[in-house]
Amino acid sequence: MCGLPSNVYLKEVGPRDGLQNEQKWISTEDKVTWINMLSKTGVSEIEYSSFVHPKMIPALKDAREVGKRINREKGVVYSALVPNMKGLEHALEAGIDGASVFMSASETHNLKNINKRIPETYPILTEVIKEAKNAGKIVTGYVSTVFDCPYEGRIAVEDVLSVCDQLIESGVDYLSLGDTIGTAVPTQVEKLLKGLFPYFPKDKLILHFHDTRGMAIANIMTALHMGITRFDSTIGGLGGCPYAPGAAGNVATNDVLYLLNGLGIETGINEKRIQEASIYIQNKLGKTLPSRSVAYLKNA
Ligand code: HMG
Ligand code: MG
Repeated sequence: MCGLPSNVYLKEVGPRDGLQNEQKWISTEDKVTWINMLSKTGVSEIEYSSFVHPKMIPALKDAREVGKRINREKGVVYSALVPNMKGLEHALEAGIDGASVFMSASETHNLKNINKRIPETYPILTEVIKEAKNAGKIVTGYVSTVFDCPYEGRIAVEDVLSVCDQLIESGVDYLSLGDTIGTAVPTQVEKLLKGLFPYFPKDKLILHFHDTRGMAIANIMTALHMGITRFDSTIGGLGGCPYAPGAAGNVATNDVLYLLNGLGIETGINEKRIQEASIYIQNKLGKTLPSRSVAYLKNA
């Protein structure tokens, strides 16, 4: 198909975004086994956990232990979510190639999620970004609620631009634009990207879709046509943010892979191994994962 990239970089955020909202405790040992399976799938990057306050995200309170125990596969980037200097210290101790800082384009979501107003967040993240870069790490800046906010509704492109601008100024290598509540449609994606393209190179932008309304694949298709080559996804469509009520899981890696393989776009990922890792975590969680591809495999 003309106008599409030949390669796409997929970041598997299942062990972080995928598990952070799960009520069922997945043991450290099972997390490590699962991440080791993911490491063998050929995925470019794995966000393996989150170094946030353990009371905010109890499901990932063993981040340090997980980071110390996983096998590191050559060629795979291992990253983790980091909210502040304390989180960065723990992450560096556990071992990371990449630090993902995060904030929101919406004031209310920022406050609920990280207990800070947007202007108060910048100095905290600027220090984290500087120290992570000094330690030789790749830094990604997540911007949440770039389309819609569960508290404030539609977010203006100018508000997203302003947060992206500040994060780039602070030194992030990539910006990951989050459809936190999974409500965007392709025209919103087109509008936002057109607003950002004059200021930020396309290859610095990552898109992070939740799939609440089933629009994520259509949105990814739009972004691909506009030259975006980096996406976040989770095995089986796990995920959600506890501070974004109503949000469903991320777009499923399995479904993105089905699309990209069908389009002839290279990812380096082995689909069978992705399915095996999906079945593994599905059994551990004891529930059917939302991805259509997992259901297909089960019934095949
Ligand atoms: P706070 O309470 O404002 O923190 O929380 P504080 O700096 O005032 O410190 C209070 C206490 O917490 C202190 O302990 C600190 O040491 C401790 P005390 O002295 O009282 O004993 N503390 C920590 N402990 C462990 N690890 C840390 C840490 N930081 C402080 N890192 C904070 C601020 C940001 C820490 C908190 O609000 C938090 O952890 N929030 C995280 C919420 C979260 O994880 N949300 C989900 C991830 S974001 C997401 O899913 C969206 C995304 O996927 C993109 C998208 O979909 O849009 C990325
Ligand atoms: Mg997310």
